Amino acid sequence: MMIKLEGITKSFGSLQVLKGIDLEINKGEIVSIVGPSGAGKTTLLQIMGTLDEPDAGVVQIDGTVVSRMKEKELSAFRNKNIGFVFQFHQLLPEFTALENVMIPALIAGVSSKEAHERAVKILDFMGLVDRASHKPNELSGGEKQRVAVARALINDPAVILADEPSGSLDTHNKEDLHQLFFDLRDRLGQTFVIVTHDEGLAKITDRTVHMVDGMIKKD
Ligand SMILES: Nc1ncnc2c1ncn2[C@@H]1O[C@H](COP(=O)(O)OP(=O)(O)O)[C@@H](O)[C@H]1O
Ligand SMILES: [Mg+2]
Repeated sequence: MMIKLEGITKSFGSLQVLKGIDLEINKGEIVSIVGPSGAGKTTLLQIMGTLDEPDAGVVQIDGTVVSRMKEKELSAFRNKNIGFVFQFHQLLPEFTALENVMIPALIAGVSSKEAHERAVKILDFMGLVDRASHKPNELSGGEKQRVAVARALINDPAVILADEPSGSLDTHNKEDLHQLFFDLRDRLGQTFVIVTHDEGLAKITDRTVHMVDGMIKKD
């Protein structure tokens, strides 16, 4: 079991956004989460990614119960075990693609030589090696998202969590990005949880979790 959520609840003020979520995700699975806007998908993903805390319930990632960790330990755990991809790439504009990909490894204490080697290898795998020295504003939207995926991968995370990763891409780039997720799963056994509005993607994932009003309606 890569991720196990039990009895997760979360409120913002008087608004209960998550109403008791149980979910298990296996290694190498690509799971999509779909549902109307406001259903609680992003909140759930943030809690799964330890970026937010539930009011109640247990979050277990690759066998570790994260709710018992102190903030410093937790941020190290997050950096090592969880890769994030957002709708907008969130690359740092003043750094090249290669440097952006290296950063999480450097934060994890990997030497710059090894971080460099790893980043080149991943960019090469994605056919982006000739873009390595470009800054984000010199990359297309599709390239930026693929660099963001490379950055998410560099510490060999237990899981990649993606929140509408293709939401800002055109059809062609969207399909390329989705294909990349499946290639990474097939070649590296990478686990993905992807919040998406894209019906085409939801159809081809291993499982689709339907969220409505803070609950899982169908899995
Ligand atoms: N930090 C927050 N403070 C207050 N309300 C929030 C916060 N984050 C999300 N919400 C509210 O929680 C509900 C679910 O939001 P969200 O998880 O972003 O849903 P989704 O991603 O499915 O659109 C929405 O009504 C949203 O306005
Ligand atoms: Mg959302």
